[in-house]
Amino acid sequence: MSNQQWDTLYLNANLATIPSDDDLGIINNAALAIKDGKIAWLGARQALPAAPTTLANECVDCAQQWITPGLIDCHTHLVYAGNRSREFAMRLAGQSYAEIAKAGGGILSTVQATRQASLEALYQQSAQRLQTCLQCGVTTIEIKSGYGLDLDTEMKMLRVAQMLEQNFPVRIQKTLLAAHTLPPEFSQVEAYIEHICQQILPQLYAQGLVDAVDAFCEKIAFSTQQLEPLFARAKQLGLPVKLHAEQLSNQHGAQMAARYQALSVDHLEYIDAAGVQAIAAAGTVAVLLPGAFYYLQETQKPPVELLRQYKVPIAIATDCNPGSSPITALPWVMNMACILFGLTIEQAWAAVTLHAAKALGLEQCIGSLSVGKLAEFAFWEISHPAEVIYQLGTFAKPANADLTKVKFD
Ligand code: NIG
Ligand code: FE
Repeated sequence: MSNQQWDTLYLNANLATIPSDDDLGIINNAALAIKDGKIAWLGARQALPAAPTTLANECVDCAQQWITPGLIDCHTHLVYAGNRSREFAMRLAGQSYAEIAKAGGGILSTVQATRQASLEALYQQSAQRLQTCLQCGVTTIEIKSGYGLDLDTEMKMLRVAQMLEQNFPVRIQKTLLAAHTLPPEFSQVEAYIEHICQQILPQLYAQGLVDAVDAFCEKIAFSTQQLEPLFARAKQLGLPVKLHAEQLSNQHGAQMAARYQALSVDHLEYIDAAGVQAIAAAGTVAVLLPGAFYYLQETQKPPVELLRQYKVPIAIATDCNPGSSPITALPWVMNMACILFGLTIEQAWAAVTLHAAKALGLEQCIGSLSVGKLAEFAFWEISHPAEVIYQLGTFAKPANADLTKVKFD
């Protein structure tokens, strides 16, 4: 047994530590030490207290690669069956997302495909998508249910999410989105919400399949009033809530979510000043989903300036789903957030690390390179972190690939 103070020491690295959304926190020619899976030390290599080999059991030459916090995709519907390319063509021909949904397409068509898919088929299709997320440097991802809308299929979806976490090097936060739309078996919204509260939520929670509860608050889905009992039930179980809010219209979902100290409210194209004030006061993160904005060819942008004025942390996510955002590449969405919503490079990086961690309630453990946080990184062969956003198709290096373990004096 060696008695060096650190397990691993990365040397000759460039770090983007992401301390805030104004500053990438760059440290060139840096060293980064890990002990028991956590960051134990980081700084300029010259500031190391002694010769590297006397400090760590293993020294790794990063050959000037960049290390960033692992990316966090804090809003996805990654587990689903089939695809909706036909609806994509319909939208290109002029039909709206809401029209297609009302005509029985949209979410319900994916519900049908997901109910019919076996657990294995659902796993295979989802695993393929997850692999592409991981190539983009993602180390934590949130996955929602919501294409089952019955106990068995919601369970199947969340079990697939659980199996993915067991089989891939990634943390998966599982969110129950049974309140995505009204399933065909129910004609009464209140009766379905009651069924979620009494059956689906408590049973899946008891099986360890639910980390948070989400809902779709919209004219074509549920009103705040209809969702109150669900959020009350979630809170009773000690579960955090989040909400798809003000995507296509202003339903004042943000205010309702803020009353339940929601972790995040997501989409927000139509949020108004009262909504922004409410989430600012509640410490709720604004999750922007530029992929859905882009695919649906929306014109109303989320009020980024207002959110910043009220110091609301802004996260961005892929919203990976078969209808409004069939995207797995988080850096592409960073690019869209900059070009379509006017985020800066610094804001876009913080939006997929620091603030995305807070949107999942994990800000104590992940989201930046700082001492005490978990050693979950993305490695990049770039000359500046802006390149990840600038050049579509920039992939992260597989963890530790091409990094040579050498002896340093
Ligand atoms: O976040 N808004 C609701 N849910 C998804 C879309 C789901 C779908 O169209 O299948 C979203 O955009
Ligand atoms: Fe979504």
